[in-house]
Amino acid sequence: MAVPRSEYLSSAWADGIFANRVLFITGGAGSIGSAQTRALVHLGADACIIGRSVEKTEAAAKEVAKVRSGARVLGIGGVDVRNFDNLKAAADRCAKELGGIDFVVAGAAGNFIAPISALSPNAFKTVMDIDTIGTFNTIKATIPYLIESAAKNPNPNPSGTTGGRLLSTSATFHYTGMPLQSHVSAAKAAIDSLMGSVALEYGPYGITANCVAPGAIEGTEGMERLASSVIDENAKTRAVPSGRWGTVRDIADATVFAFSDAGNYVNGTTLVVDGAGWRRQGGLGVGIDPSMQYPDFLLAGEISKHLKDGRKSKSKI
Ligand code: COA
Repeated sequence: MAVPRSEYLSSAWADGIFANRVLFITGGAGSIGSAQTRALVHLGADACIIGRSVEKTEAAAKEVAKVRSGARVLGIGGVDVRNFDNLKAAADRCAKELGGIDFVVAGAAGNFIAPISALSPNAFKTVMDIDTIGTFNTIKATIPYLIESAAKNPNPNPSGTTGGRLLSTSATFHYTGMPLQSHVSAAKAAIDSLMGSVALEYGPYGITANCVAPGAIEGTEGMERLASSVIDENAKTRAVPSGRWGTVRDIADATVFAFSDAGNYVNGTTLVVDGAGWRRQGGLGVGIDPSMQYPDFLLAGEISKHLKDGRKSKSKI
């Protein structure tokens, strides 16, 4: 059974606004990525989902295709964004089979909870490679297609049809810094900077390049891995000014906005979709329980014992 629209798309958007458009998305089989893809496919786009796992990626493509009859959704698994050649082959295949690439989401990311003391040089490099280099590789592999798309779809376009749009998934940790997330903070700060450069260099070609920065999003693989399972609803409500954690739909709606005729003049910036949570960052950190206080847990070399994965042993401070 298809996922109900209300779970991945608000009622604000008209059906068909992305008819004959093609989305290329890395990390599209994940919780946020599949909602972004569902939303665009629902509104008329075809899509190509890229992922590391063949099984998960192909299954996600089949599921997403159910939201609209006639939708073409390719799942190309076995592609690691750290490998440019694989990614380029996937972009070429997507353009060949679906007729081009109009929208790109660079969403693939890696994360785990660790203080600097427990991060090996290779651990830090791994996240930089997946997030930052992976985003760069995605841009390099798809930009020729985005240039073609932007040339066919001037911005603004009297018909309202858009193309040549790029959105990278960022985060908010680096606005303030976040204990146990130095690797991700560095990687996402670099992504923000990179997207500014893409806007500068490719804006004149008609491309828009932005980031979306999700806050704590309910029910995602990321939060399941990063957040302690003993955080209760009351603590979540108090931690975010908007009084709740986000939903995948909140991120999908921001994606639709950025790619739509309503987002024509939004370029080189970050859409922060976090209920103003970053302004209270530290209200509830990742990788710790509500009872764990800064800096005591760091000095004790402890992280939450209630994480889905993560290293349960004390870190080497
Ligand atoms: N704490 C500290 N170091 C860690 C770690 C943790 N929890 N998890 C991995 N590392 C280190 C490894 O020890 C290794 O370093 P080393 O060679 O010095 O020992 C390095 O990171 C690479 O780990 P490895 O498992 O070989 O990398 P990978 O490329 O297979 O996968 C991730 C890396 C980050 C993607 C992995 O954590 C993962 O698969 N995560 C699930 C998906 C995910 O993160 N989704 C995003 C959610 S927001």
